[in-house]
Amino acid sequence: MKAIVKQSAKTNDIALLEVPVPEINNDELLIEVRAIGVGIHDEYFLPQNISYPYTIGIEAAGVVQEVGSSVSSYEKGDRIAFISMLQPKGGTWAEYVAVHKDSLSFRIPENMTFEQAAAIPVAGNTALKAIEPLPLRPGNSIFIAGASGAIGTFLIQLAKEKGYVVASSASKRNHQYMKELGADFTVDYRDANWQQQITDWMPGGVDAAIAVQPKTTTDSMKVVKDGGHVTSISGDQVPSERGVSVEIVSHQLDIRNELSRMVKHIADNDMKLVIEEVYPFAEGFEALKKTQTRHARGKLVLSMNK
Ligand SMILES: NC(=O)c1ccc[n+]([C@@H]2O[C@H](COP(=O)([O-])OP(=O)(O)OC[C@H]3O[C@@H](n4cnc5c(N)ncnc54)[C@H](OP(=O)(O)O)[C@@H]3O)[C@@H](O)[C@H]2O)c1
Repeated sequence: MKAIVKQSAKTNDIALLEVPVPEINNDELLIEVRAIGVGIHDEYFLPQNISYPYTIGIEAAGVVQEVGSSVSSYEKGDRIAFISMLQPKGGTWAEYVAVHKDSLSFRIPENMTFEQAAAIPVAGNTALKAIEPLPLRPGNSIFIAGASGAIGTFLIQLAKEKGYVVASSASKRNHQYMKELGADFTVDYRDANWQQQITDWMPGGVDAAIAVQPKTTTDSMKVVKDGGHVTSISGDQVPSERGVSVEIVSHQLDIRNELSRMVKHIADNDMKLVIEEVYPFAEGFEALKKTQTRHARGKLVLSMNK
């Protein structure tokens, strides 16, 4: 099968190669991949002690081709989307992938394409795990730092759905975009006084912040009121101050019900899914370069059918 692989431990050593189709264990599914979600993590989120060439990628959508004897959740022919992370047999940037039965997955609604479905698992899972634990009530306020990417696009909408008042940051060209998603107030992280703009808008500070971009947690904390809450999506390690709690996204949280609801909302057009570009699989390298700029609007996707 064709796969986009890391050829060695060196960075940027990525190639499109022919590799064997993975063989599945009893507790795995074999998926014929139709579309792949792209993210900054694809090139570096790898299991330990991997053997090269190693297929990169951690999310995709496709059709179940083989079902291990101890798997009862899906049948051959089912359309599913999933996260398959740190799989020693290889990741999702390939024509076939072995997926463990306990991986986060969902059945793709009939009115959703493989490309749409592949854009949801990582960004949806991360956005839900960041926002669900926050102890906020309708009418409370939240700031989202770096909010026009894949995760922020979901976060703004989830926050509005919960009745929160939302401020968010991105460069100027994305302010109208964030407002259309529901943001009540937008700032440009490149403006020297963006924090002042938020505290002028919400005197005393917002109730909580979610810092999507790396190294934005310290600055985000400055616009949170005393005793408020900050969650770092990129895992920034920042000491608490003024009684503000600082958390990183908890991978233990079970958000499967919320994810199913989100998938239904997207399929029913009650929530926007934004895909900046769908690339042919063979142009995966271009998609990797684009995601690394950290300026994609919404999600990037690879398609096997393009
Ligand atoms: N914890 C987890 O499980 C998990 C899972 C997946 C991803 N992540 C993390 O989430 C991040 C990826 O998020 P993503 O895919 O939504 O988007 P992304 O493409 O990395 O970020 C895009 C957003 O960040 C803004 N941005 C770019 N540079 C910025 C800066 N210096 N300060 C503030 N904002 C800035 C962009 O605005 P403009 O384009 O307007 O400049 C845009 O709004 C990565 O850091 C990744 O490590 C974590």
